[in-house]
Amino acid sequence: MIRKLIELEETDSTNDEAMRRAESGTPHGTVVKAERQNAGKGRRGRNWQSPGGVNLYFSLYLKPSFGPDRASMLSLLMAMAVAGAIEEVCGNHDVSQSKEAARLPERGDAAREVLDIQIKWPNDVVVNRRKVCGILTELKVQGNVSHVVIGVGVNVNMSEVPAEIAGHATSLLCEYHREISREVLLTHIMRHFKEMYRIFEKNTDLAFIRKEYNQYLAGMGEEVRVLDPQGEYTGISHGITADGNLLIQKISDNPEPEMIKVYAGEVSVRGIGGYV
Ligand code: BTN
Repeated sequence: MIRKLIELEETDSTNDEAMRRAESGTPHGTVVKAERQNAGKGRRGRNWQSPGGVNLYFSLYLKPSFGPDRASMLSLLMAMAVAGAIEEVCGNHDVSQSKEAARLPERGDAAREVLDIQIKWPNDVVVNRRKVCGILTELKVQGNVSHVVIGVGVNVNMSEVPAEIAGHATSLLCEYHREISREVLLTHIMRHFKEMYRIFEKNTDLAFIRKEYNQYLAGMGEEVRVLDPQGEYTGISHGITADGNLLIQKISDNPEPEMIKVYAGEVSVRGIGGYV
């Protein structure tokens, strides 16, 4: 999947750098990675704190053959890739039958405690109910060519999370109590993404991973609060549709069940008890 890897010590934002490179002809599959960003961007105009030497900041550039209306689904695909990679690297998968089992410390060692890895719709990866990864997908359409940049920030080896985000954010080090190789994590993320992208390119929807995504989905089958700027409401989450929207059964006095398809963008979904 990675056709070209550009490794930078510092940049403003790997998303912006990748888009600039895209406009000057970098190939589909280019990954731009930086040790630090001085203007890291989050969703909804927020900034993404990007201190040097500890975390993963990268952007994948794609020039897909499918239409720009499909691009937002790539964020969900990337969230799955990150969740799968964390699960692999932090040993949540069942290794009891593998040779590797012999090398694992005894259960009870805090470093190997099972992590609770979830996706908060549409694309935040959360570990033990706090965010470790954010994804920002940006799109530029020039004539009939789409330039898509999927930017990924993972809090990996940060020993302390800045106070202003500590309530809802964490790092893998804080949860797993062990440093993780950022290179290894990136390799796993890209392998997972490549496997899914191959299928997505043909199908151009998420039907093939819907079940797996919903297994990761925080609040699946539970009561959630939908923060819609048009009016907040409470409902039961029924998971994503093949297009990556969230199906919510609204809780109301109406005897007829009302199913609402929630589109990402301005709308956020929270658990009843807080961020997740
Ligand atoms: C979010 O708000 O959750 C999205 C955060 C995305 C951060 C990543 S870090 C690498 C890439 N470059 C950026 O400027 N943003 C994304």
